[in-house]
Amino acid sequence: MLWYTWGLLALSFGVVAENGLNGWLRYAPLPDELRQHASSLPSRAVIVALNETETSPVYVAGKELQAGLKGVLGYTLSLSHNLNLSASTNSSAIILVGTLAAYNLSVKHNVSTLAADGFWLNVKGGQVTILGQNERGALYGAFEYLSMIAQGDFSDVDLVSSPSAPIRWVNEWDNLDGTIERGYAGASIFFRNGAVVEDLTRAAQYARLLASIRINGIVLNNVNANATLLTAENMDGLGRIADAMRPYGVQVGISLNFASPQTLGGLATFDPLDPSVVGWWTDKTAQLYQRIPDFAGYLVKANSEGQPGPLTYNRTLADGANLFARAVLPHGGVVMFRAFVYNNHLDPSDWKADRANAAVDFFQHLDGHFLDNVVVQIKYGPIDFQVREPPSPLFAHLPHTNAAIELQISQEYLGQQSHLVYLAPLWKSILDFDLCVDGQPSLVRSILSGARFGRKLSGYAGVVNVGTNPNWLGSHMAMSNLFAFGHLAWDPTQNPQTLLETWTRLTFSLSPTVLSTVTSISMASWPAYENYTGNLGMQTLTDILYTHFGPNPASHDNNGWGQWTRADSTFIGMDRTVSNGTGFAGQYPPDIAAQFEAPATTPDELLLWFHHVPYTHRLRGDGKTVIQHLYDAHYAGAQTAQGFLAAWAALRDDDGGAAGAGAIDAERFDDVLFQLTYQAGHALVWRDAIAGFYHNLSWIADEHGRVGYHPHRIEAENMVLRGYVAVGVTPAVTASNGTAIVVADGGVRGEAVAVLDGVASGVYDIAIGYFDVFGGRAHYGAFINDEPLVEWIGDLEDRLGHVFSTKLDGHSATRVTVKGVGIERGDVLKVIGIADGGERAPLDYVAVLPAGVVD
Ligand SMILES: *[C@@H]1O[C@H](CO)[C@@H](O)[C@H](O)[C@H]1NC(C)=O
Ligand SMILES: *[C@@H]1O[C@H](CO)[C@@H](O)[C@H](O)[C@H]1NC(C)=O
Ligand SMILES: *[C@@H]1O[C@H](CO)[C@@H](O)[C@H](O)[C@H]1NC(C)=O
Ligand SMILES: *[C@@H]1O[C@H](CO)[C@@H](O)[C@H](O)[C@H]1NC(C)=O
Ligand SMILES: *[C@@H]1O[C@H](CO)[C@@H](O)[C@H](O)[C@H]1NC(C)=O
Ligand SMILES: *[C@@H]1O[C@H](CO)[C@@H](O)[C@H](O)[C@H]1NC(C)=O
Ligand SMILES: *[C@@H]1O[C@H](CO)[C@@H](O)[C@H](O)[C@H]1NC(C)=O
Ligand SMILES: *[C@@H]1O[C@H](CO)[C@@H](O)[C@H](O)[C@H]1NC(C)=O
Ligand SMILES: *[C@@H]1O[C@H](CO)[C@@H](O)[C@H](O)[C@H]1NC(C)=O
Ligand SMILES: *[C@@H]1O[C@H](CO)[C@@H](O)[C@H](O)[C@H]1NC(C)=O
Ligand SMILES: *[C@@H]1O[C@H](CO)[C@@H](O)[C@H](O)[C@H]1NC(C)=O
Repeated sequence: MLWYTWGLLALSFGVVAENGLNGWLRYAPLPDELRQHASSLPSRAVIVALNETETSPVYVAGKELQAGLKGVLGYTLSLSHNLNLSASTNSSAIILVGTLAAYNLSVKHNVSTLAADGFWLNVKGGQVTILGQNERGALYGAFEYLSMIAQGDFSDVDLVSSPSAPIRWVNEWDNLDGTIERGYAGASIFFRNGAVVEDLTRAAQYARLLASIRINGIVLNNVNANATLLTAENMDGLGRIADAMRPYGVQVGISLNFASPQTLGGLATFDPLDPSVVGWWTDKTAQLYQRIPDFAGYLVKANSEGQPGPLTYNRTLADGANLFARAVLPHGGVVMFRAFVYNNHLDPSDWKADRANAAVDFFQHLDGHFLDNVVVQIKYGPIDFQVREPPSPLFAHLPHTNAAIELQISQEYLGQQSHLVYLAPLWKSILDFDLCVDGQPSLVRSILSGARFGRKLSGYAGVVNVGTNPNWLGSHMAMSNLFAFGHLAWDPTQNPQTLLETWTRLTFSLSPTVLSTVTSISMASWPAYENYTGNLGMQTLTDILYTHFGPNPASHDNNGWGQWTRADSTFIGMDRTVSNGTGFAGQYPPDIAAQFEAPATTPDELLLWFHHVPYTHRLRGDGKTVIQHLYDAHYAGAQTAQGFLAAWAALRDDDGGAAGAGAIDAERFDDVLFQLTYQAGHALVWRDAIAGFYHNLSWIADEHGRVGYHPHRIEAENMVLRGYVAVGVTPAVTASNGTAIVVADGGVRGEAVAVLDGVASGVYDIAIGYFDVFGGRAHYGAFINDEPLVEWIGDLEDRLGHVFSTKLDGHSATRVTVKGVGIERGDVLKVIGIADGGERAPLDYVAVLPAGVVD
């Protein structure tokens, strides 16, 4: 069967096609056998939502309960807003949702201990009581109840739930022109052409998703902010967005450009201590609150990556943060101030220079200088959302300052939504890390909850790339990251796998087969991605100077960005020790610093983060040399990714069996299949590039002889070419044998032919390596003895959301595979490419693969 025709097969199940718009809030009908358990909930129950105002989250909760129970159970329940009204009906069952205040429920339970946004959910037979500490909490409780019902759980519960922290925000990086920085899912749902869009339907739908995972704030625009957001028209537009999201309890905030008083306001300065500047921000803030009385506050990126800030005027970063804090204080707002401040012009020849030191260097001495409504927002690691980092040591240095962690749902450096990477286990590795401040237990999550240092304001910020793509993130599978983020912000002690299982049941199906498949591939996805990108703490070895997507390990060194690997022909890794290196290890409290100071006590997964060692250094864990581990991990990781595709494809159930793809609609099944097919191919590009690069650098052979050895490949440049010419690829390691072929300048059609005389007759998979660049949609066809084998178009840019390259490189390299092709010795394999625009139908190789072999 041809991989690309799978999408044309109709599944023989009554599953409705879905596009992912409802995410995990689908309220799909329960299978009959589970519905039987619903008998405790009479079909004549009455929903009572104790608020009649349509914009109230309590009112919304009533509507949501009505829609959810209709979808899941098929019950059409009446909705009232008055307890007495229900008393006058004959229904014995009441589903009540409201605030504690509205219900006048004083104590009785532990309910009085609820924190802001918390809820009490009590289910006893047909009686369901959902009481929020505030309106938002009531809505969260309703979503919790609906989640139970949608999973077929009708048990009695008595749940008192409060958030770990008050700040549970998402950060959108949307630009006013409608593009999204690190957005891999289409254009902005908020902005277009410098203004707020008219139709805010998607904004309200997004708020619904956010409320269901208990997110209470959203920063709408890019941290690299545009001052024109603060024009009167745009502030009116922000007011409309706030109105659309308020019924879901989501408060809006914005990112600021520090220089706005000058660039927008026409002042001579933006010095944070200048009275005219203070006055300007005070006025602007008042104008915002006039339009948005519950405006959440500001997010500020200052003096980072070229952004203006207080250092421009020799003021401290705290002076800068406090400027905004004073402006929002009378209105109850907060200021999130990013700690992502560093010099991106470091001298790579300076052995002691280290970007990882920056956050502590810039912020440590400012502890206690920030006003109480400032929260310093700290990326989870010291560099920038890499596949593996130790926690930022800054978490240990701000006992007198509010802190929040910045996590990234958007997969910059992490496959850009074209690779499945379930991130909750990565986040957990940070949240559960004990920093041992003052020798006391100091889990990162207990610093974030405010408990460790006794802070009242603290929490979580997640960078999200939501766009106009109906599935929100550009990948159905990536939605597990958003789901897990919200739930971990609420309760960081939760288990990532349990969250994933809940998400899977709500998103796809209650089928045990689907559950175990999605769980096993998602749980393996971060370790696999780490394996085939950058392991042992080397960071994601992507192209840091271009799109942060495909492999380019050489881009890490010899530039000012400080994401160095310090790899040469003998050694690899950053020396971050105190004794001989950058001193970064010493930024941790003593117990942790001592552990990271020596290779013998540093965990293998962070070895090259902290130490500069020979390739022949042996690991603590498996005793392998660093270089052999690197080879093995890349082969293992890429192999794991082939398994993702196979596991998902096995859910297809051609004979109409009960459990498989029949439990998932064809539309989403095919979308995921397509993405995992792409990932399987691109994982091989990663494997070959990274293993090849370090092989070429160290000249240490792979013990298993795999690196650089491709016995089943026929290099395109070695085929008989007509209309095609060979070209070198940069970086060379991203093409098989460093060379590809493209249709010659001025030509349109190319042909590459090989006689398969070295292949025994049999059944093979045929894989074709090619490049899909931005700027054209080339057509390809492959033939065996002139019989069509497969046809495809270089149109990945229309089907995947990652940033596309215009060149032949690690971002554009990809491959198609045709399974189960009968070949006779001496058959003629021909590939025809038709160039289109800038895409010159580039081809890399053809592989004739015996069953089970991936070359
Ligand atoms: C009902 O909702 C509105 C809007 O959220 C709110 O202002 C009001 O206080 C609520 N009433 C009660 C009784 O909770
Ligand atoms: C509810 O009913 C009681 C008794 O019938 C009455 O005293 C009370 O005013 C009613 N409350 C509302 C909010 O209608
Ligand atoms: C309640 O039931 C009684 C008799 O069973 C009936 O007369 C009455 O109309 C019902 N009331 C409502 C509001 O359904
Ligand atoms: C709660 O008490 C207030 C007055 O304190 C009253 O107006 C309201 O109707 C009561 N609500 C309920 C559900 O009894
Ligand atoms: C109420 O609090 C007590 C003691 O703090 C605890 O043992 C009990 O489990 C709590 N009940 C609920 C329903 O949370
Ligand atoms: C800011 O937005 C305005 C209006 O869309 C646009 O003209 C301008 O180029 C933007 N500035 C930057 C630095 O992006
Ligand atoms: C900046 O401020 C510091 C401390 O107040 C002072 O020592 C230094 O001279 C100032 N530098 C400039 C360029 O004003
Ligand atoms: C110590 O640092 C120097 C660079 O200053 C480096 O060349 C050397 O390899 C390091 N020594 C060890 C033992 O890591
Ligand atoms: C990652 O690589 C290691 C080392 O080869 C291997 O033991 C492990 O199973 C791999 N894990 C995955 C998920 O590929
Ligand atoms: C191997 O390294 C040499 C320089 O040392 C370079 O010219 C060549 O392109 C590299 N080959 C690959 C495949 O990277
Ligand atoms: C690799 O490319 C070189 C030219 O750059 C060529 O001489 C050599 O035959 C190629 N190797 C293979 C295995 O195709």
